[in-house]
Amino acid sequence: MNLKALHKISYGLYIVASRKKDGNINGQIANTVFQVTADPPTIAVSINKQNLTHEFIKESRVFSVSILKKDTPLKFIGVFGFRTGKEAKKFENVKYKIGVTGAPIVLENTVGYIEAEVINSVDVGSHTIFIGRVVDAEVLSGEEPMTYAYYHEVKQGKTPERAATYIKEAGKQ
Ligand SMILES: Cc1cc2nc3c(=O)[nH]c(=O)nc-3n(C[C@H](O)[C@H](O)[C@H](O)COP(=O)(O)O)c2cc1C
Repeated sequence: MNLKALHKISYGLYIVASRKKDGNINGQIANTVFQVTADPPTIAVSINKQNLTHEFIKESRVFSVSILKKDTPLKFIGVFGFRTGKEAKKFENVKYKIGVTGAPIVLENTVGYIEAEVINSVDVGSHTIFIGRVVDAEVLSGEEPMTYAYYHEVKQGKTPERAATYIKEAGKQ
């Protein structure tokens, strides 16, 4: 079996965010966002159970997806993808607004956003797939969205072990 075949699957790059009842907000980088049906519009995302964002989505049953632009700086991705909200307030120095679901929507380096209410979830071991009915969506800019391939090949970005699509380096398997 050659798991490198999984690298041939294409994705974008997103900030998936949510809130808690007490008003706390948090978000994380995820590439595993995809549309599952058109009518009614429904999306899904795969979130690691250890992430703070997982805890927030599980409690509030809502999430937002902010779609990153192609030229998003690695440093910005690092804030949401290589740090946990358990140790840092990720939204402190970031431009955002609160959406109709109460989840935060990132307004920097984003070309659009989608908000969803969870209608179902699937336990897949390390991660939960949250399936959400789209309740709001907006285009913010005509710039090109980031792709997972561009992030790796051009921006030379890395993927942490907690990501749904993490694959161990050859030789370590
Ligand atoms: C390029 C990239 C893709 C990622 N994709 C996912 C993903 O699809 N699902 C996931 O659970 N984590 C993914 N992560 C990892 C989370 O963003 C990371 O564990 C984050 O620190 C979790 O933050 P939190 O604990 O504040 O929720 C990805 C990270 C990067 C950099």
